[in-house]
Amino acid sequence: MIKLNSSLLFSGELKVPSDKSISHRSALLNSISIGKSKILNYSNGEDCLSTLSVLKELGVNINLIPKENSYDLEIESKGLNSLTKPKNNLYAGNSGTTTRLLSGILSFSNFNSILLGDISLNSRPMKRIIDPLIMMGANIKSNDNCAPLEFSQSNLSGIHYNMDVASAQVKSCIILATLGANSKSVITQPALSRDHTERMLISMGSDIKINKNEVTICPGEINSIDIEVPGDISSAAFWIVAALIHPKGNIVLKNVGINPLRTGILDVLIKMGGRIEIFNEREVANEPVADIRVIHSELNGIEINGDIIPKLIDEIPIIIIASVVAKGTTIIKDASELRVKETDRLFAMSEFLKGSNIKHHLFDDGIEISGNSNFSGGNFDSFNDHRIAMSIAVSSLISDQETIINNHEAASVSYKQFWNHLELLKLDN
Ligand code: S3P
Repeated sequence: MIKLNSSLLFSGELKVPSDKSISHRSALLNSISIGKSKILNYSNGEDCLSTLSVLKELGVNINLIPKENSYDLEIESKGLNSLTKPKNNLYAGNSGTTTRLLSGILSFSNFNSILLGDISLNSRPMKRIIDPLIMMGANIKSNDNCAPLEFSQSNLSGIHYNMDVASAQVKSCIILATLGANSKSVITQPALSRDHTERMLISMGSDIKINKNEVTICPGEINSIDIEVPGDISSAAFWIVAALIHPKGNIVLKNVGINPLRTGILDVLIKMGGRIEIFNEREVANEPVADIRVIHSELNGIEINGDIIPKLIDEIPIIIIASVVAKGTTIIKDASELRVKETDRLFAMSEFLKGSNIKHHLFDDGIEISGNSNFSGGNFDSFNDHRIAMSIAVSSLISDQETIINNHEAASVSYKQFWNHLELLKLDN
């Protein structure tokens, strides 16, 4: 539990933690490629450490070099079939990305294995990956389409698959399974989702083609590559909204990944009236990176729906915080995926808004928030979800009374140093 009070200042310069999605992929892909790789700035969040611990359990040779807020890794691998039969069950903790991406690899591996996670992970939907993997020929037993997932040895063939949710995890799972299959897959997504897997595989020499919403991937070995992981825009999002809503907000965030399929949050906040400047744009490891300056701004309510949703799906809880202070109404729709994240994030944010006496209306697939409101402070729960804990923390910066967050430790899933950084920015470093 943590008690937070409002602050007079919110300013400074910060390097946000390393990107979670890119970290997972850098370790997973380099563990099934040919050669040696160095990964710089691997995330120290618990989810990414879960990926490393299952890879070690699968016999991958990983040298971990701790740094102040991240790790450097050295990985050596002999190709697609270099993983070995684990002695124990593979424990993915809270990490949906570890579970769904690794399932693609375990489906073609020549040993049996069991993959599971914590209570939240074991209740999240896995049918979305089980169905296409079984179509490819995988042998998977599940607990009513949830983890634990039990994989038995099998030979896979590629598929033509029309995904019904725009999910980068599902797309990546099929892509990874196809690497070890005996024919190509063609995957069609209803809307574009983050493409870190595709970008990394292109650099690794894979035969992968992208045509609008369609990805074609051919089986075959890939080559290890060195990767420098950029800062995570999903973590930067908390400080971007904090600086916009705090009357003395003025911050610079360094080295943030600005992959266009992740920057829906910037598009929306700029449209709401946010003063956000993107500068020092460059390319690192086939991913666009920049520095971001944010200055307090008067925000206006907005409608958010359709194809932009997958580009900001993880940022909706913090966008809800911005909507509370914005003038007018904000309506978020087409976001039913929020109900199957680490917790039901629409419900969790509605509970926070209820406890803060903020007028809102919950839909099955979204929420409507009446703006021009103040945060009252109070006693709230994170529902053990990192992004809910951090969103409530941002509201505390301008709350009338003290804000208490139960299970605030959940933030470590993606942002271990979040609470230190919050204090630093309040102190105007
Ligand atoms: C992720 C994809 C998204 C996102 C998650 C990370 C990834 O999930 O919400 O935090 O790294 O591929 P979905 O694929 O379920 O949309």
